[in-house]
Amino acid sequence: METLAALCKRRGFIYQGSEVYGGLNGFWDYGPLGCELKRNIRESWWRSVVQQRDDVVGLDAAIIMHPKVWEASGHVDSFADPMVDCRACRRRFRADQLLEEIGQKLERTPDGKGYVWPDNVACPACGAKALTPPRPFNLMFRTFVGPVEDESSVAYLRPETAQGIFVNFDNVVSTSRVKVPFGIAQIGKAFRNEVNPRNFTFRSREFEQMELEFFIRPGTDAEWHRYWVEERLKWYESIGLPRERLHRYDYPPEELAHYASACVDILYDFPFGRQELEGIAARGDYDLSRHQEYSGKSFVYFDPDTQERYIPHVVEPSAGVDRIALALLCEAYREEWVPTAGVQGEPKPVEPGQPAPEGYELRTVLRFAPCMAPIKAAVFPLLKNKPELVAKAQEIYRKLRRRWPVFYDQQGAIGRRYRRQDEIGTPVGITVDFQTLEDHTVTWRDRDTMQQVRVSVEELPARIAAMLGED
Ligand code: GLY
Repeated sequence: METLAALCKRRGFIYQGSEVYGGLNGFWDYGPLGCELKRNIRESWWRSVVQQRDDVVGLDAAIIMHPKVWEASGHVDSFADPMVDCRACRRRFRADQLLEEIGQKLERTPDGKGYVWPDNVACPACGAKALTPPRPFNLMFRTFVGPVEDESSVAYLRPETAQGIFVNFDNVVSTSRVKVPFGIAQIGKAFRNEVNPRNFTFRSREFEQMELEFFIRPGTDAEWHRYWVEERLKWYESIGLPRERLHRYDYPPEELAHYASACVDILYDFPFGRQELEGIAARGDYDLSRHQEYSGKSFVYFDPDTQERYIPHVVEPSAGVDRIALALLCEAYREEWVPTAGVQGEPKPVEPGQPAPEGYELRTVLRFAPCMAPIKAAVFPLLKNKPELVAKAQEIYRKLRRRWPVFYDQQGAIGRRYRRQDEIGTPVGITVDFQTLEDHTVTWRDRDTMQQVRVSVEELPARIAAMLGED
């Protein structure tokens, strides 16, 4: 992960937040390439969940909502992590993570209100056996709305985008043509004051969610839940995460939240372990019923097809954009032996402890699926001091960038320019050389195989579109 984090910084994917002031733990900034990567993730999700379906519509709700929203949702009372403090060094830890690190599991007391805490656990920082028993620590960031800072003006940064959808359920039903079963999707920032942000961007205090609330007729929960787990797994494969490194975790009944009838997490094999990218929960009518209770407004839906009235149930696929970006970076990252200039051959995997094969050197490459690559193609004139090559390369570049993020580079030896693009995952390099001026063809150099073929300039848009799976 350290090597990957260094590459992310060096090439402008991800920087530590507020780095010039020493950073702020749990916050990250995405650089020029990182924000393209995230846009690709968001756009692919939005296309697959909203635009390519006729039963899901979008929403963009405010980040700060009425504080009653979070009372109704249960977050004010119970959105908390169990914390222990070290009385000796005053550091604070998450109790469940602390026990996990020593191979134990945090158990609740039989009344469900407290935790069983072994009293011989040492502080991982100073070693003192002086930890307090676990206490709940609410993860919501508090702020104040308006000029007066008192309890009446307290508000929260949303800890999930989901509630913006629930409170707008009636607005959407009465202002668009949706009929149950249908969904409302939202992408946006959410905030959790995590006690222990860790694993690079994996657990951050500010993060981006892509959530779908799919409203259904009560009793159809299990089939819709099954359907969405399958749909979501297919989407992960479509963006380049192979099925063998994706896993599902089906919650056993005793681990389900009290309102959920089923929950499946989609996990990915990160270098730091198998961790969640997305949770898909069948939440029954919990959220709409709670908002009905707390707001006094009816969330009963009249189903024109069955002539019944009911509060719809919901299936919620909830994914984290930053986690998916990190999974794509981990999946794409490779170090491999590649032939030095003038040697023919394909890249070879690096075997630990083995020296470079004769005539090969090391390259770092990000093998993104082309649809996720931040830059889709790089255009190069073979030589920068030949005006006719530069003019032709720029003409091609200007034409392609109307449709895709394309990069133009004329600095340095051509091999180094390819290597720079390999390192940021650009799937193809297009080089204008002297033959281009004669027969209007360019070289098309594939990032993964490093093979070069000649293609005509006219063919380029269709070839790029085919590579990206666009029609
Ligand atoms: N809405 C579910 C979550 O934020 O995890």
